[in-house]
Amino acid sequence: MWSSSVIPTFLFLSVFPVGLAPDPGSTTQGNDIYPPFWDQTDGDIAEFPVQNNKIIVDLWKYMDRLRIYKILIRESNKYFASFGKNNTGNVFWALTLLYGRLFETGRFSEPPNSSRCAYESGVSSCISINSAWGGISFYVVIAYFLGAIESEFLGNLPYEVELLPREEYRSNFCYSVEECRAAYPQIMDIANRFYKYLQSRKIVSTTGGIPQYDTDEDTAIFKMWAAHQAAIDVAKPKFSDV
Ligand SMILES: *[C@@H]1O[C@H](CO)[C@@H](O)[C@H](O)[C@H]1NC(C)=O
Ligand SMILES: *[C@@H]1O[C@H](CO)[C@@H](O)[C@H](O)[C@H]1NC(C)=O
Repeated sequence: MWSSSVIPTFLFLSVFPVGLAPDPGSTTQGNDIYPPFWDQTDGDIAEFPVQNNKIIVDLWKYMDRLRIYKILIRESNKYFASFGKNNTGNVFWALTLLYGRLFETGRFSEPPNSSRCAYESGVSSCISINSAWGGISFYVVIAYFLGAIESEFLGNLPYEVELLPREEYRSNFCYSVEECRAAYPQIMDIANRFYKYLQSRKIVSTTGGIPQYDTDEDTAIFKMWAAHQAAIDVAKPKFSDV
């Protein structure tokens, strides 16, 4: 078991040589530390299409997962205000930057045809259902997104969220809160614990007009990481042959 203070270093060093979170203030200056196409989404759930009173999300699209990460960052920024200027201390950066890196390095492309679902397809890029990295990352995003919905961390959404299922490898994936809870209660419980921890934080002071919450950095990282680990533990064996 790693001590929780080792975790952010591990996560960041595995992605960036300098181990720095990006400064969201400089996102328009072509800072390529951000995930590709970061500026193409505002992190607003209203950006997803709505059909038959359902918010439609396709987790096999690069942009849809990216949008989810940005929503989670936006919704959670306030709890991490004391850990760095301009929300650089948000623990979700680790997951988001790693996700962008996987895309940039071609991990979501279709084996063996690496030009399908490739970085070059830009904002319309798919994530190949035959990519083991894409499949494992699916479970990570499910843990945090469906956990956030189930724990009402995202508040009252205007419509129910519908994840578009794929017939391919249907039994390898779960596509709703109900289905994922039934199949993988441990992932959902651990993700819920992380969100419940954040939701129970209290404002203890105000700095420069910004409320500061009593979030403990190690605890937040530990709980965030536990959800990541639970998702990986379930996902990895499913893709061991890929
Ligand atoms: C924070 O972001 C703003 C713009 O959003 C920028 O003007 C400011 O310099 C940034 N602060 C730091 C400390 O980087
Ligand atoms: C590989 O994928 C590209 C893009 O989808 C496609 O144009 C090409 O025909 C594929 N090549 C093979 C050998 O399937």
